[in-house]
Amino acid sequence: MASAQSIRHFLDIKDHDATTLRKILDMSLRLKQLLKEGEHPQLLKDKVLAMIFERESTRTRVSFDVGMRQLGGETIMLTGKEMQLSREETIADTARVMSRYVDAIMIRILSHDDLLELAGAATIPVINGLTRVSHPCQILADIQTFEEHRGPINDAKVAWVGDANNVMVSWVHAVTVLGGKLNISAPKEYGPDQGMLSDIAAAGGKVELIDDPRAAVDGADLVITDTWVSMGDSDVNERRRILKPYRVDKAMMSAANSKALFMHCLPAHRGDEVTSDVMDGPQSVVFDEAENRLHAQKGVLAWCFGWDEI
Ligand code: CP
Ligand code: NVA
Repeated sequence: MASAQSIRHFLDIKDHDATTLRKILDMSLRLKQLLKEGEHPQLLKDKVLAMIFERESTRTRVSFDVGMRQLGGETIMLTGKEMQLSREETIADTARVMSRYVDAIMIRILSHDDLLELAGAATIPVINGLTRVSHPCQILADIQTFEEHRGPINDAKVAWVGDANNVMVSWVHAVTVLGGKLNISAPKEYGPDQGMLSDIAAAGGKVELIDDPRAAVDGADLVITDTWVSMGDSDVNERRRILKPYRVDKAMMSAANSKALFMHCLPAHRGDEVTSDVMDGPQSVVFDEAENRLHAQKGVLAWCFGWDEI
């Protein structure tokens, strides 16, 4: 049985140093290149990944499933509702049992504490497929996408406009570890909570809170937004009303650097947080970003299973 220290969980970007993140990103790029050349290195032959979804997903579910198959492994798709988790079996006991059957677990669960409890009791790697707190796999794909189009993230000025949410937090972690500058503009009602503020403080000046969204975007190399209503949010009408000035439209994009990219983790709500002319416009890389979920997560999977280079 692996010791707790040696288990390679991927729970948050901030848990890793830049060297490890760079190893993962390098493997992601290499695996992408090999795939385009028609090669499928069987790094995870006969390994089984259990994917537990307590909430909806299109990209995370399909990209992990396809990624495991391309690497020679298999997946089991589970939902919390059909497991004994829904009948009060504890997360920790679930982790102990699953560790006897499968080789790794990827989980989407709103409670970050539950994710940590699962990882704490598991004797196999656990991957965060999104919690209310963070979405690290998404941001690895975002960084891969930015660097493919524009070069190193540590030279970049990034602007986050809209709701202060899980995706934003993983961006805070990314600039903290990898460098770059992140401006955040969110209304006070939906701005950073205490946990987010302490992560922002830990970024040591790389993250700045700016009230005016246009000022936050000024000169940015990358503009990012996300849904105004994340999974688990209920105040839909209030959010749509208060977040309206943060919509990324052409006028907002024109405040950024003329070569700025636009990203959104998707699913997007066209006409709310982003207009269709931006989503479908020349600066948008949202579908490259979605594609890179596959490649970035293959890098994460390879790393979790002990690979450092390919
Ligand atoms: N961006 C993202 O995680 O998408 P899904 O919710 O479809 O997995
Ligand atoms: N912030 C969104 C991301 C969805 C991929 C949510 O948590 O619902």
